[in-house]
Amino acid sequence: MANVSVIGCGHMGSALIRGLSRSDSHRIAAGDVDPDALEPIAGLVAETTTDPAAAAANAEFVFAALTPEVVLPAVADLGLGADQTLVSTAAGVSTDQLAAVTDARVVRIMPNLAAEWGEMATAVTGPGVSPELLALLEEVGVAVELEESLMDTATALNGSGPAFVFYFIRALQEAAMECGLDRREARLLATQTFKGAAEMVLHTDEELDSLIDSVCTPGGTTIEGMRIFEDSALETTVGEAVEAARERSAELAEEAGDE
Ligand SMILES: NC(=O)c1ccc[n+]([C@@H]2O[C@H](COP(=O)([O-])OP(=O)(O)OC[C@H]3O[C@@H](n4cnc5c(N)ncnc54)[C@H](OP(=O)(O)O)[C@@H]3O)[C@@H](O)[C@H]2O)c1
Repeated sequence: MANVSVIGCGHMGSALIRGLSRSDSHRIAAGDVDPDALEPIAGLVAETTTDPAAAAANAEFVFAALTPEVVLPAVADLGLGADQTLVSTAAGVSTDQLAAVTDARVVRIMPNLAAEWGEMATAVTGPGVSPELLALLEEVGVAVELEESLMDTATALNGSGPAFVFYFIRALQEAAMECGLDRREARLLATQTFKGAAEMVLHTDEELDSLIDSVCTPGGTTIEGMRIFEDSALETTVGEAVEAARERSAELAEEAGDE
């Protein structure tokens, strides 16, 4: 059983708590300066406190799920020791910047909100990465260790990515509603289609082009829809969205470095 602390229990911190608490195999202490953020997760953890340093005091792994503007002073105030591992989720804040304000081993991750359901995609980097930490992250999804220089790209891909996928599901849902389905039917069918397609990709090494071909029966329906995508700027637009998010992550890194 690991002693885990989550500092900052907003969207990301509470998703990590919900995911990690499902197994009952860790002692989780939650700290947030806002008591309202602690209330929804109080029943899932051993301890909640508005004193973040107290929540972090006995933890082997301290997740700092804090916004980039506050993470450095907030981590400094935790007073962590060299036997602890700090795991920061803050977009654009480097391991060097974190190491400058703490004695703890430092790890930077780019997680996403699917932690809540054990389906998080996480990019991990930093000198404090250990097999124990990777095992902890894999309890709530998949962890991929990357060079730190690629973390801005991971921020765009798997950090921001859920919003991009929600956008696409909404577009499919709206299109189906235009053609007669009610909202509930359209939402469920569109969403399960995403989930099923993702499962297929996860369970095969087959190229994506080949998977597309397997649905595109010649003379059938899919090929007509795919022609519209291929004649559009959709692929370029997706690339531009990822690049815009990646650039913003790099800007946040510069802003954090200026402070
Ligand atoms: N949301 C996502 O999908 C996502 C995905 C990947 C990575 N991230 C990263 O995760 C970090 C957190 O994002 P978020 O969306 O969870 O933000 P959020 O919802 O604003 O949560 C942050 C929480 O931390 C609290 N807080 C502020 N200062 C604190 C301090 N000194 N000590 C303890 N708690 C403090 C905030 O309270 P107040 O509201 O009172 O300030 C808030 O409850 C960001 O760096 C973001 O880049 C988020």
